[in-house]
Amino acid sequence: MADKKIVALGGDGVGPEVMEVTCQILEKAGFGLEILKPPCGSEALKTQGNAFPEETKKLCDESDAILFGATGGPSSGILAYLRWIMDNYINLRPVKYYPGAFSPLKNPEGIDFMLIRENSEGLYPGREGDIPWLAKRISDYKDPFGRTLDFYGEGKFAIRLITRKGSERIAKYAVQLAQERKSQGFPGKVTCLTKANVLRQSCGLFRQIVEDEVKKAPGIAYEHFHADDAARRLIRFPREFDVIVTTNMFGDILADGAGEVIGGLGISPSACMGGKKPYFEPVHGSAPDIAGKGMVNPTAMILSAKMMLDCLKMPKEAQALEKAVAKVYREGKHLTADQGGKASTKEFAAAILQKI
Ligand code: NAD
Ligand code: IPM
Ligand code: MN
Repeated sequence: MADKKIVALGGDGVGPEVMEVTCQILEKAGFGLEILKPPCGSEALKTQGNAFPEETKKLCDESDAILFGATGGPSSGILAYLRWIMDNYINLRPVKYYPGAFSPLKNPEGIDFMLIRENSEGLYPGREGDIPWLAKRISDYKDPFGRTLDFYGEGKFAIRLITRKGSERIAKYAVQLAQERKSQGFPGKVTCLTKANVLRQSCGLFRQIVEDEVKKAPGIAYEHFHADDAARRLIRFPREFDVIVTTNMFGDILADGAGEVIGGLGISPSACMGGKKPYFEPVHGSAPDIAGKGMVNPTAMILSAKMMLDCLKMPKEAQALEKAVAKVYREGKHLTADQGGKASTKEFAAAILQKI
C-alpha cells in the first residue's frame, strides 16, 4: 500500500499538461505514491462552476503534499489557499544548471544556488486601495518631503508589510539551509537582497534580522546586495551565490531572471513549505502562448516533484528522478522547443521515464 498521499492539481493553461506527464512518470516509476487528481482549475470551473471545489480543498488538507501546475487566473484561489491560508512562508527556488540546458551564458557550468523568497508578506497578497481613502485615515502622516497623502490626489496605494516574525522565520530557514549545504560541500553563505537604501525601515528591518540570524551561526558567511545590483550579479557572477534570501516581490522577479540563466522557466522548479502542507510548483505560470500545443517543457514540474520527494524523505526516489532529468539533458536528443529541441511534452516525458 502506498504510504504517502499526494494531491495533484493541474490548474490552468499548461498546468494540466505538465501535471499529466509528471504524474505518469511518478506512477510508472513505481515510487509507491498514492496520487489523487480531484477536479480543479479552468476545467472544474467549466464543469462545476468552481475552480477549487470544497472536496478538492478537503483532500489537500488531508494530503501529505500537493503538486500544483499553474494559475492563469481561474486557479488563483488555489494558489492563495496553498500559499497564504496554509501559511507556506518559504518559497524555495533552486537555480541549478544541468549540462545540455539552453542557457544564454557561454559558460553556465557549475551554477547551483538556492533562492529563498519570503512567501507570506511584503507586497503580496495585494493590500491596495484609494489614496484619498487612506489620506483621510492617516491625515497626520508625512512623507520624506513633509507632504501629507492628500497632496497626491486621486490614485492607488499598496501596503508592503515586513514583520519581525515573518523576517525571523525566513532568516532562520536561510541559515539552516546554508548550514545543511555547507555540510554537503557548498560554501555556506547567506546573501541577503533588499532595497534598504530606499526602504530604510522595512528593508532595513529585514536586512538587520537576517544579519543577526547569521551571526548566531558560526562558519556561515554573510553578504548583502541591493536587489537591483543583484539582478546584474545573478547574470554576471551566478557561481558566487549559495543561499539567497529576499523579500516576496524581489524574490518573485529575480527567480524568473535567475531561471533564465540556467535555461529558462521550463526548467525552474519550486517548493513552498513551512505551513500546514507543503506544495510544489514550477516557477512559471500558465504560459497561454503555448498552452494546448503539446510543446510545454515539463521539467520544472518534474523537478518540483523531485523536491517533493526530498521533502517526503524519499531521497532515493528523488535522486533517481533528478538523475534521469540530468541524463536526458546531457544526451540532448529529446529536448523541448524552449531548449532548442524538437520533442513534444510527451516525448520528453517518455525519455525521462526510460532513464529511471
Ligand atoms: P509564464 O511563466 O506563464 O510565461 C512566460 C513565458 O515563458 C511565456 O513565453 C511562456 O510560453 C514561457 N514558458 C513558461 N513556462 C514554460 C515551460 N514550462 N516550457 C516552455 N515555455 C514556458 O508568465 P506570464 O506569461 O507572465 O503569465 C501567464 C499567466 O500565468 C498569468 O496569469 C500569471 O499571473 C500566471 N502565473 C502563475 C504562476 C503560478 O501559478 N505560480 C507563476 C507565474 C505566472
Ligand atoms: C509566481 C507567480 C505568482 C507570484 C503569481 C501568479 C501570484 O508569479 O509564483 O512566481 O507573483 O508569486
Ligand atoms: Mn513569478
